[in-house]
Amino acid sequence: MTSTRTQGDHDLVVVANRLPVDRVVGEDGETTWRRSPGGLVTALEPIIQQYDGAWVGWDGGSDGPEEPLEQGGMHLFPVALSPQEIEEFYEGFSNGTLWPLYHDVVAKPGFHREWWDSYVTVNRRFAERAAAEAADKALVWVQDYQLQLVPAMLRELRPDLRIGFFLHIPFPPSELFVQLPWRSQILEGLLGADLVGFQRRGGAQNFVRLVRQRLGHKTHKDLIYLEDGRTVAAECFPISIDVAELEKLSVSDPVAERAQQIRSQLGEPRKLLLGVDRLDYTKGIYDRLRAFGELLEEGALSVEDAVFVQVATPSRERVDEYRRLRDEIDRLVGRINGDLGRIGRPAISYLHSSYPRDEMAALYRAADIMVVTPLRDGMNLVAKEYVACRHRDDGALVLSEFAGAADELKQAFMVNPYDINGMKAAILEAVDAPPKDLTKRMKAMRKTVRSHDVSDWAEEFIGMLKQARPDHRKRLRP
Ligand code: ADP
Ligand code: F6P
Repeated sequence: MTSTRTQGDHDLVVVANRLPVDRVVGEDGETTWRRSPGGLVTALEPIIQQYDGAWVGWDGGSDGPEEPLEQGGMHLFPVALSPQEIEEFYEGFSNGTLWPLYHDVVAKPGFHREWWDSYVTVNRRFAERAAAEAADKALVWVQDYQLQLVPAMLRELRPDLRIGFFLHIPFPPSELFVQLPWRSQILEGLLGADLVGFQRRGGAQNFVRLVRQRLGHKTHKDLIYLEDGRTVAAECFPISIDVAELEKLSVSDPVAERAQQIRSQLGEPRKLLLGVDRLDYTKGIYDRLRAFGELLEEGALSVEDAVFVQVATPSRERVDEYRRLRDEIDRLVGRINGDLGRIGRPAISYLHSSYPRDEMAALYRAADIMVVTPLRDGMNLVAKEYVACRHRDDGALVLSEFAGAADELKQAFMVNPYDINGMKAAILEAVDAPPKDLTKRMKAMRKTVRSHDVSDWAEEFIGMLKQARPDHRKRLRP
């Protein structure tokens, strides 16, 4: 740590594994900053700008400098990770153990003691950095599965703080969670917070049940009563997007023109289907493309009138499961295009790259059908972003019932992503749906998305955190 301070001057501190920007060092040694991948950054960036808060996080590189920096009106405080910590804490325990375990064990989690040790060490470093930047009685908002020990560590360092924690990914049912050799430590870590937030009601219920059954704490509805007198609340706060920003972008002339251009470059297909995901095995990309390929093979669709654009953002590329997935999808796309494409008419236009926000908005505007079929997903912001960009109330959303977004976007064409035939039927239903039906569905979904945007999400969380009751014994005394 560069700082030996025990207290800072920020009234709101967000602590997340990643900063909103990644440090990229070019061959000439020059440092540039690139937007970090994923939904967490999309959601928190506008909030931290609005509240003038501080953001503590990793800069995506190894052994980077820890000097504070200002970016896009945000005060950023980097936490350095060594190459070994990147391997053991980030790729290992966070993304090789917790990520698959919390996503229904769709891949096999690895349980390694050295990964756990690194998780503890790095969580402590984040807690120390947050403690050094937070003002007296500040609000500290810890984010996501990589930092579940931070709340308790931070409370020990700074009992004056109000500490919130929000989990962006699903919290698993107890049958899966209890596989974790360090299950009690994780629960204890989270209980350092005054408020623990989840995407879905079921996640909060799983957590409360686990602390009652495994740690023996008294609970009542969403409240957990600890022996030291503190009360911890577990609540669900479905995350959202910056609707106004995206609407503004999507109706702008350059985005409208770019959307037109995309369609014409694709040969003016009758139907443009779109998938946008980090290249992650939880996102269901492989089965979704297989379903589309089979529809072409069977003649239900043809490359003359339908094209699938799949954007697959590079992600966690040194983790074995992700490498394997990339190879499998490369092969599948190659096979489908080789067997079914024609000159100038590929069946799938596959893009393994990151894009600026205006290009994303143009893709959403260009697409007739957005296909979002994760096997499990905390929320899935892409589904909400597509809806926000459909200002003409047209377009169709095919959505997995296993994404958190399915709780809200009920008018989507719902699918079970494990059911390939069901997925094919839903895609065809969306392709053939009368415009009137699509408008009705999209209008309702737009109303939902607009009625609860990311600042509502943050205000609800922060508002509840401010009211957190630290000592239930005082409250219960007559
Ligand atoms: P996750 O957090 O698991 O990555 P989400 O769907 O919740 O999934 O959020 C993904 C976010 O990343 C969205 O805001 C989406 O617009 C953005 N995104 C996804 N792919 C790309 C890409 N190729 N280029 C730029 N932004 C992307
Ligand atoms: O919530 C999903 C999440 O894991 C975020 O924590 C993270 O910012 C995003 O996906 C991208 O993942 P990574 O930081 O591993 O690239």
